[in-house]
Amino acid sequence: MLKIAVAGTGYVGLVAGVCFAEVGHQVICVDIDENKVNLMKSGVSPIYEADLEQLMQKNYAAGRIDYTTDYESAYKDADAIFIGVGTPEQPDGSANLSYIATVARQIAETIEKDCLVVVKSTVPVGTNDKVEQFIHDFLVHDVRVEVASNPEFLAQGSAVRDTLHADRIVIGTESKWAEELLRDIYKPFMLPIVSVNRRSAEMIKYASNDFLALKISYMNDIANLCELVGADIQDVAKGMSFDDRIGSKFLNAGIGYGGSCFPKDTKALEYIAREHGYELRTVKAAIDVNHDQKTLLYKKASKRLITFSGLKVAVLGLTFKPGTDDLREAASLENIPLLLDHGAEIYAYDPVGAGHFARRFPEGPNSHGSIQYVSHPEEALADANVCFIFTEWGEVKAIAPEAYKNLMRTPLVYDGRNIYAVEDMRAAGVEYHSVGRES
Ligand code: UGA
Repeated sequence: MLKIAVAGTGYVGLVAGVCFAEVGHQVICVDIDENKVNLMKSGVSPIYEADLEQLMQKNYAAGRIDYTTDYESAYKDADAIFIGVGTPEQPDGSANLSYIATVARQIAETIEKDCLVVVKSTVPVGTNDKVEQFIHDFLVHDVRVEVASNPEFLAQGSAVRDTLHADRIVIGTESKWAEELLRDIYKPFMLPIVSVNRRSAEMIKYASNDFLALKISYMNDIANLCELVGADIQDVAKGMSFDDRIGSKFLNAGIGYGGSCFPKDTKALEYIAREHGYELRTVKAAIDVNHDQKTLLYKKASKRLITFSGLKVAVLGLTFKPGTDDLREAASLENIPLLLDHGAEIYAYDPVGAGHFARRFPEGPNSHGSIQYVSHPEEALADANVCFIFTEWGEVKAIAPEAYKNLMRTPLVYDGRNIYAVEDMRAAGVEYHSVGRES
């Protein structure tokens, strides 16, 4: 059992901290936000994530995890300090490293025993060399401190499961001491460990995320072509998926990838390449395709309808994917302002994301249209002229094709997630437009 401090209680930090506690380590999570710390102490998770709250409560009751704003007491005698603070995208696409720098300095000024600093945040290749140098520059006590890279591969909505049952743990270290300490920390997880040098570990994170983003953009590109040539993207994906070299995952065409990771990490890697005088053409193409795909539904519907003005528009799903309340880079954020600008009267349903969305668009952003939030999909669909599906929530998938026909004034549906079989919607009498399939 090791004493682990975790800096930052966002997705990465909090989930890591809770999972370390779950396997038996002694964990202290540090955050600057006192309200958040009190909330977590009372057993409430600041993020919506399956299983997280239950594990927080269980491990807090067992005395294996605690939360504090007092970084000094948390860091001074830790065996390892994991950094999970954000690295948000800057206007030029590069990653903002100021939060990492702040934590690195606090660590340097407070640690009183040998300590491994482990960076979980996604950072540009070479950053951890600089973090190590920075800590040495500000170090107060005569202790051994090294920095390791340990990128995170969890996805929102399945974060706890992804961490406890990860495909692999990637560790990037520059000494046997650091490698062995990290292996000890991860031993109870009993998962495959890929041990490489620090820069390769940093690159594995970007290369993995960007590859997945590329896979999605590729399928979206092919889907758009399928529509033009009369092929069906789902059948095409199925046929491709039997090839082990391609695999069956992440072949779903739709309205592009959102979230806090793929959009940010594609732009960050492209920026890193540019800084080194290299043009990363494949990743650039993935970004371009995704940009256009986001407003696909709006563009399709605009061709079919003379105007949105005065129309009741049902919107099903606001978050960037199901299982999360996160709206970052969600397709809804691109399409809804366009619809509002063109006078649509929107009735939006999302099982968990509506509150967040409402705070962003209380009455519609100075638009001609209006937006209301409803608690049941049926309220959105009742008497609607057109429906847009942005997120494949279970609650949305559960709507029977006949419900669109029976509830809507005009059963016209634009589905950005291909959740229905084309023939089922046709049989129900619904005019159904999806992605990469016949209308
Ligand atoms: C992603 C990666 O999947 C994780 O491995 C990684 O650790 C994480 O980023 C991160 O860097 O922190 P996440 O953004 O939570 O996780 O969500 P995904 O499930 O990967 O979905 C991202 C977007 O791609 C969603 O908008 C989803 O709808 C879209 N997507 C996914 C598709 O359009 N098609 C697919 O086949 C799969």
